[in-house]
Amino acid sequence: VSFSNGSSYHVGCLESERRALLRFKQDLQDPSNRLASWIGYEDCCAWAGVVCDNVTGHIVELNLRNPFTYCDLSQSKANPRYLNLSYTQFVGMIPPQLGNLSNLQYLDLSWNFLYVENLWWLPGLSFLKDLDLSYVNLSKASDWLRVTNTLPSLVKLRLSRCQLHHLPPLAIANFSTLTTLDLLYNQFDNSFVPNWVFGLIQLVFLDLRRNNFQGPIPEGLQNLTSLKHLLLDSNRFNSSIPNWLYRFNRLESLGVSNNSLQGCVSSGLKILIPNLTNAAQLEVLSLGSNSFSIALPLISSYLIELDFSNNSISGSIFHFICYRANELNKWQILYLSGNFLQGELPDCWMNYQNLMILDLSNNKFTGNLPISLGSLISLQPLHLRKNNLCGTIHSLENCIALMTLDVGENELVENIPTWIRERFSRIVVLILRSNKFYNLLPKGLCDLAFLQIVDLADNNLSGEVPRCIHNLRAMVTMNSHAGKAIQYQFLLYASRAPLIATLLEDAFVVMKGREAKYERTLNLVRIIDFSKNNFSGKIPLEVTNLKALQSFNLSNNFFTGRIPESIGAMRSLESIDFSLNQLSGEIPQSMSSLKYLNHLNLSNNNLTGKIPSSTQLQSFDASSYAGNDLCGAPLPRNCSEHVSTPEDENGDEDELDYWLYWSL
Ligand SMILES: *[C@@H]1O[C@H](CO)[C@@H](O)[C@H](O)[C@H]1NC(C)=O
Ligand SMILES: *[C@@H]1O[C@H](CO)[C@@H](O)[C@H](O)[C@H]1NC(C)=O
Ligand SMILES: *[C@@H]1O[C@H](CO)[C@@H](O)[C@H](O)[C@H]1NC(C)=O
Ligand SMILES: *[C@@H]1O[C@H](CO)[C@@H](O)[C@H](O)[C@H]1NC(C)=O
Ligand SMILES: *[C@@H]1O[C@H](CO)[C@@H](O)[C@H](O)[C@H]1NC(C)=O
Ligand SMILES: *[C@@H]1O[C@H](CO)[C@@H](O)[C@H](O)[C@H]1NC(C)=O
Ligand SMILES: *[C@@H]1O[C@H](CO)[C@@H](O)[C@H](O)[C@H]1NC(C)=O
Ligand SMILES: *[C@@H]1O[C@H](CO)[C@@H](O)[C@H](O)[C@H]1NC(C)=O
Ligand SMILES: *[C@@H]1O[C@H](CO)[C@@H](O)[C@H](O)[C@H]1NC(C)=O
Ligand SMILES: *[C@@H]1O[C@H](CO)[C@@H](O)[C@H](O)[C@H]1NC(C)=O
Ligand SMILES: *[C@@H]1O[C@H](CO)[C@@H](O)[C@H](O)[C@H]1NC(C)=O
Ligand SMILES: *[C@@H]1O[C@H](CO)[C@@H](O)[C@H](O)[C@H]1NC(C)=O
Repeated sequence: VSFSNGSSYHVGCLESERRALLRFKQDLQDPSNRLASWIGYEDCCAWAGVVCDNVTGHIVELNLRNPFTYCDLSQSKANPRYLNLSYTQFVGMIPPQLGNLSNLQYLDLSWNFLYVENLWWLPGLSFLKDLDLSYVNLSKASDWLRVTNTLPSLVKLRLSRCQLHHLPPLAIANFSTLTTLDLLYNQFDNSFVPNWVFGLIQLVFLDLRRNNFQGPIPEGLQNLTSLKHLLLDSNRFNSSIPNWLYRFNRLESLGVSNNSLQGCVSSGLKILIPNLTNAAQLEVLSLGSNSFSIALPLISSYLIELDFSNNSISGSIFHFICYRANELNKWQILYLSGNFLQGELPDCWMNYQNLMILDLSNNKFTGNLPISLGSLISLQPLHLRKNNLCGTIHSLENCIALMTLDVGENELVENIPTWIRERFSRIVVLILRSNKFYNLLPKGLCDLAFLQIVDLADNNLSGEVPRCIHNLRAMVTMNSHAGKAIQYQFLLYASRAPLIATLLEDAFVVMKGREAKYERTLNLVRIIDFSKNNFSGKIPLEVTNLKALQSFNLSNNFFTGRIPESIGAMRSLESIDFSLNQLSGEIPQSMSSLKYLNHLNLSNNNLTGKIPSSTQLQSFDASSYAGNDLCGAPLPRNCSEHVSTPEDENGDEDELDYWLYWSL
């Protein structure tokens, strides 16, 4: 015990602890010199990562959240209260010597590449309150529950993604003071949640997502009435929502999505999701991907996130949206996609100015886009794909925060409006596919500096592709910050506990001829799809400036002239489809330098001459080149029998030369 001089100011570190830290440092490999400040006779409380008690001078915290590659605590004499090594990219086995840091109250080793054989040393940490071993491979540590159960002070236990394959029974849950239990994504072999969990009556946060539990939502949960966050998503629960859940009056988030829940969401569910008399604090309600088959219930305006997607809900959304039309709604996120909702979109969006995500895709909505959609000034993604909507997108003119607009597969008929240049200046994903957009592309399209995916396929667009297309800045360089923008970070300011949710935007995009749902990788994707329209004229040379473009589809149009000679400069290209046009001349030699190219379709054009040699271009099937006048591998036709000379094929240039000559 050391006594300070009574001042509340910090007293400098203790000599013995300073020496212990120096010994500790000797045992570390510190290639990036993060511990440069750990030298000599300096006050060690001022050293990087060291926190001292400002009264006693004892070291109370070692915060080494830095990318060390190796850490050996065996010689350590420091005895901190707090050790946080999360996200440090440590690799290897957790040293059992940690068990000697007997004062630890907080231990966070999450999100590294660590494993343990067992946790015999854990009971040494008898003051531990907060233990986070998420992402540590615990598959061999069959003693994990027995030893954590000996920690009498434990309040928070996070073991998500630990490869725990079994959740054992316990006679008695010693850690009955637990308020947080996070077992997300372990895929237990248990069919049922063991009883000891239901004895943890102080639980505030329970995360059992992605664990293969089945049968009804367990009755035992009804004792856990302190719960604020109950997350049961992605299991195989198959009951209806039990009535007792409606009595949980502290719930802030309830997640039961992606199960096999069915039946009605009982009208007794007071959160319905006008009667909020009970769950007045509910802010997140996730019921998606089940088999609910009800009309949408009326829900509170206090909710922040509501997910009803991918169920069998039918009927109109008129009452659901318009019931509270006269009061400002807090709603930020609304997922209703993948149901059988029908009728017109109601014109009651005036008071949903907080809405940031709206997904109504994959339903049976009809009619025009209502004027009041223009009130959604915070909206970032808007998904209306796969409905039967008609008319124009003019009501979206004021939705100036839009980053994703997907109105694909509807019946919209209009010019692409010229105001997109000013109004959609932040747009990253623009999907107008399979509608009836007609006429020319507006030049303003080229000024959308963040555009990464532009899918205008299967419309009635005509005219030339504007030369300004080389201005599409996000397609010019991979390093643009545009990609980051796709990660929507929402601070959900719940009045009591702020919840941070990073929602990665997803979009359906067509690449390499297949429809794929891009999620995490979307910020790396750059796509132009103008296929199945009436575009004509030449492919502008300027397009070769789009060096980050990965997928380029112009098929099924009326393009003429040659493939741009410098197409090889578009070095990110993975997929090219120019089929079903009237392109002529030779395949440019530079195409052989597209080393990422793995999908190519030049069939049904007027191309001539020899297919340039490169391992890449010869690796495609002959059908990639069919319907032209080409020769050489992979086509069976040998070039020697083909007597064309370069002059024959230099149509355009010859023509130019000729006119130049003539005018001179
Ligand atoms: C000393 O620490 C206490 C608790 O950590 C803190 O409230 C107080 O402001 C600190 N005093 C000084 C002078 O930093
Ligand atoms: C450790 O640090 C991370 C990142 O700063 C933080 O999110 C986490 O809450 C900390 N863990 C503990 C137990 O305080
Ligand atoms: C604590 O340290 C001593 C001496 O280094 C060692 O023998 C013992 O095994 C350690 N205990 C744990 C739990 O690591
Ligand atoms: C986790 O550890 C087990 C046993 O050592 C091993 O078989 C498994 O491959 C590890 N899992 C991962 C993802 O490394
Ligand atoms: C429960 O904790 C106490 C110490 O608080 C300990 O003596 C006892 O052995 C523990 N019980 C079990 C089953 O681990
Ligand atoms: C729910 O699942 C359990 C266990 O898998 C099964 O025995 C039961 O028949 C299922 N009930 C319903 C209503 O599907
Ligand atoms: C739930 O609480 C009741 C009364 O407090 C108790 O009798 C029952 O055993 C508890 N159920 C479980 C599963 O712990
Ligand atoms: C639904 O749950 C299954 C099984 O846990 C999982 O594989 C799948 O990814 C989940 N789907 C969604 C959309 O979360
Ligand atoms: C809401 O609930 C209260 C009390 O449960 C009840 O008196 C009232 O009639 C309900 N209102 C509606 C519109 O269902
Ligand atoms: C919809 O929910 C079912 C389970 O109810 C699931 O199998 C399917 O993957 C979900 N589809 C989507 C697109 O999330
Ligand atoms: C295509 O657009 C043109 C105007 O550019 C229009 O005359 C024609 O009727 C449209 N075709 C279809 C099938 O909608
Ligand atoms: C393409 O080739 C066909 C047949 O050889 C010819 O009739 C047509 O005029 C050519 N089109 C162009 C645009 O060169």
